[in-house]
Amino acid sequence: MRISVIGTGYVGLVTGVCLAEIGHIVTCIDIDALKINLLRSGKSPIYEPGLEELIVKNMAEGRLHFTNQYNEGLIRAEVIYIAVGTPSNEDGTADLSALEDAAIAIADQISNDVVIVTKSTVPIGTGDRLKAIIEYNKSNDSVSFEMVSNPEFLREGSAINDTFYGDRIIIGSDSVKAAEMIEEINKPFQIPIYKTSIRSAEMIKYASNAFLATKISFINEISNLCEKLDADITEVAQGMGMDKRIGAHFLNAGIGYGGSCFPKDTNALMQIAGNANHDFELLRSVIEVNKKQQNILTEKAKRRFGSLEGLKIAVLGLAFKPNTDDMREAASLTVVTDLIKSGAVVSAYDPIAIDNARKLLPEEVEFLSNIEDAIQDADCVFILTEWPEIVNFDLELYVSKMGKPVIFDGRNCLDMTKIQELKIEYHSVGRSSIYLNHSYPVSPLPFQGNKK
Ligand code: UDX
Repeated sequence: MRISVIGTGYVGLVTGVCLAEIGHIVTCIDIDALKINLLRSGKSPIYEPGLEELIVKNMAEGRLHFTNQYNEGLIRAEVIYIAVGTPSNEDGTADLSALEDAAIAIADQISNDVVIVTKSTVPIGTGDRLKAIIEYNKSNDSVSFEMVSNPEFLREGSAINDTFYGDRIIIGSDSVKAAEMIEEINKPFQIPIYKTSIRSAEMIKYASNAFLATKISFINEISNLCEKLDADITEVAQGMGMDKRIGAHFLNAGIGYGGSCFPKDTNALMQIAGNANHDFELLRSVIEVNKKQQNILTEKAKRRFGSLEGLKIAVLGLAFKPNTDDMREAASLTVVTDLIKSGAVVSAYDPIAIDNARKLLPEEVEFLSNIEDAIQDADCVFILTEWPEIVNFDLELYVSKMGKPVIFDGRNCLDMTKIQELKIEYHSVGRSSIYLNHSYPVSPLPFQGNKK
């Protein structure tokens, strides 16, 4: 099949490259000429394991092309995927301007019958709106087109794997023929396909992300309660997850969710609900809980030290999660800014997000190129991202570099037994703190009964 993909951001590029990998002839279009030049030279503009190799391979095998010209990119396309960004407006609504520009370019260029697929996350009803825009602006009256909504569920850092081994492919269309065509394109992935209406497909994407965000905020609230009642969140989550109705995934307590999707999509769904005169109270709380959760580590440190003024704090991990250089809505943005405001001296390390972090974090932050240098003579350590390198870092080095290390682990990722052995002071999320080689509940529940 001859496919064009508009937008070479995260979703567009991964989609285009993977469709080429399963045998389709794909042209990726982007208005950013610099990005297109970079891609033509076989380089990926984003960090994503395995992506660059697939770009090089599929270009060499003649299935993958890049252009910044709509006319060149859309000519003779049988299917056009729209995968441009839908960033947040100030009020939380999705900014659809790039999407509408793409629709107008399509209307201007199409010269044969075509199926138009929306990959971007869009408010419910956008498929209908795009259809009207294209119909109105179409320059060639003799061509016809059908709309499909085919939302993506890719996780950064494992996007290639998710494309090939995802849980489901959602194909929303009001045209049986168009849905069958997209089903045919996706068959080689061997992933269960579920066909719906366009609006249901658009809703599935928002509902899925909002549900996952809810799971995270829920477990974070339970972890806060565990601290107060001396239960251990790791055991609680494990025990809960054994119930198949709950599921074992997405029950890791920590300093809240970040990234390019959950914060943006939960806010957008709040706005969508509001516009439909529906007060989505539960989702509002999910968002609020997440904001509060980003502060818990700093609050613990303030309680522990009294003041953070002049304290040397090493921050390990800045990206919103491991295996990505993405800093969008990363908890580190809130945490580090707060630490600097509180007078702390911050040294920071991340395996690959430092270049992006430098542009966003306060200029007082000193960036180091390895963990050892970042923790040298620090008063305490904040772990914000569970990179394997940070999880597997030799704990004895904390002792030799810091003397009496104090660690605040925002991802519950260190080995508590080893920490106890080394007498390291350790504060995590939803678990007792380890202090002077003892484990202390935050507030023990007193026995108030009378002896019988
Ligand atoms: C997410 C969805 O998983 C994906 O399906 C969607 O299409 C895009 O958004 P992504 O943003 O790449 O993907 O990251 P994900 O792995 O889902 O993690 C999101 C955030 O939640 C991270 O900050 C992560 O640290 C946090 N998280 C995740 C938790 O705090 N606890 C968990 O148990 C899981």
